[in-house]
Amino acid sequence: MKKVLTKDNSVTFHNKEFDEHYHSLTGAKEEAVKKYAEPCRIAELAKSQGEINILDVCFGLGYNSAAALDAALQSNPDCIIRIIALENDQEILDQAKNLEVSFRNYELIKAIAEKHKAEKRNISLELLFGDAQEKIKEIDSDEILFDAVFLDPFSPKKCPVLWTEEFFKDISGLMKKGAILATYSCARSVRENLKAAGLEVKDGPIVGRWAPGTLAVKK
Ligand SMILES: C[S@@+](CC[C@H](N)C(=O)[O-])C[C@H]1O[C@@H](n2cnc3c(N)ncnc32)[C@H](O)[C@@H]1O
Repeated sequence: MKKVLTKDNSVTFHNKEFDEHYHSLTGAKEEAVKKYAEPCRIAELAKSQGEINILDVCFGLGYNSAAALDAALQSNPDCIIRIIALENDQEILDQAKNLEVSFRNYELIKAIAEKHKAEKRNISLELLFGDAQEKIKEIDSDEILFDAVFLDPFSPKKCPVLWTEEFFKDISGLMKKGAILATYSCARSVRENLKAAGLEVKDGPIVGRWAPGTLAVKK
């Protein structure tokens, strides 16, 4: 697994099997903040609700969760935060354990990468290790519904199974009304599948490249 420095000086990796990077080369940390934490309104929700549940689909190095933890805790240090993450590759989790990244709460990400569970004060993180299509079915909608979903698989071309209507229906069934799903892809097929799963689709922010991402809101 090759380490790569992105343009905002944060590190990502290149995955040989998928022949893709884990993040945009224009800035890995920037992508987590601008494409995921900000459009999902994590800071605002932390303040207004005082409690926030996040589903991080394709956890990788955990940058999206790290950006969300930083935003939520800066806005409201007492916010109760629960993150459930899906990931199937221990090799990338092992890389997270040795990284020096400038997220304030990355120690929690390192803990979850190692033990698949981490708790600190008002924060609880749990990683369901295995194929996201199967693991998502283990989450009980009677027990938890999410305010925000980070959808960050490799591209639809390289990893089509995680961009299907069926998978999106499983995600949608776990979202609160008004909850926001954010993803970097703006592919037409992805947007059609999100709509078919009962979500309202809008443009996400344009960050570091010409195309916007996608936001999908639970109706
Ligand atoms: C684009 S990277 C995610 C980057 C990550 N969000 C981060 O901040 O570092 C895609 C991730 O999806 C994971 N993945 C690929 N196929 C998967 C599957 N079927 N189930 C769960 N995770 C999968 C890969 O191991 C990889 O970590």
